[in-house]
Amino acid sequence: MRLDKFLADCGVGSRSELKKIIASGRVCVDGTVCRSPKTSVEETDTVLLDGQSIAYRKYVYLMMNKPGGVLSATRDKQKTVLDLLGEEWKHFDLFPVGRLDKDTVGLLLLTNHGELAHRLLSPTYKVPKVYEAVLDKEGEEKDVEAFLQGIDIGGGEVARPAKLSYDATDKTKAVVTIAEGKFHQVKRMFHAVGKEVVFLKRVCFGGLMLDEALEEGTYRELSEKEVHALFEKTNL
Ligand code: URA
Repeated sequence: MRLDKFLADCGVGSRSELKKIIASGRVCVDGTVCRSPKTSVEETDTVLLDGQSIAYRKYVYLMMNKPGGVLSATRDKQKTVLDLLGEEWKHFDLFPVGRLDKDTVGLLLLTNHGELAHRLLSPTYKVPKVYEAVLDKEGEEKDVEAFLQGIDIGGGEVARPAKLSYDATDKTKAVVTIAEGKFHQVKRMFHAVGKEVVFLKRVCFGGLMLDEALEEGTYRELSEKEVHALFEKTNL
């Protein structure tokens, strides 16, 4: 690939900024100063910018503990999850994988890997999502069966069979696993059995657990093992 694409993929700058950076002799490829953005490079080449090594990376995968009050969108008048990211991530064109409601907290993936995101959200791959919910009243055993059967959530939509369990000592606390992502799905499922969700947190997505060390509003990169597991789950 071209040297300017290599550096742009790594988030170093825009193509026009890179043209100037490269022309000024700040970039070395395998020990030689390169002044042409068209120089052909491999992903494995040693590329230095101002003497600092730039390891090739095109895709970024972040796990965020989404706080309440923030939209899972890329651009909006209101604050979005992208506004919570540091400058070093701004060049990567990251987007949230699916949506959590403004008041929902917990695990949100952000990436620029379109195909992975598409598969994680596609009904074909039945990627499970686990939510902890707090309800306005105690849950009942019949809800568990209703969720398992697949529940009519209104608007002509029926949720697929889902797993529900209530806390043994506090039945206003529930854990629900779904493998689809209809609008306000969990809230609508509980509404259908006569309960309102007063707090919702996603704790697991595609086998990836929310890192409890992440405070709300913070994020970290996924480990290679975590990325690999998501790829496996979606046959990538
Ligand atoms: N279900 C909901 O109702 N809200 C969310 O944010 C996610 C799932």
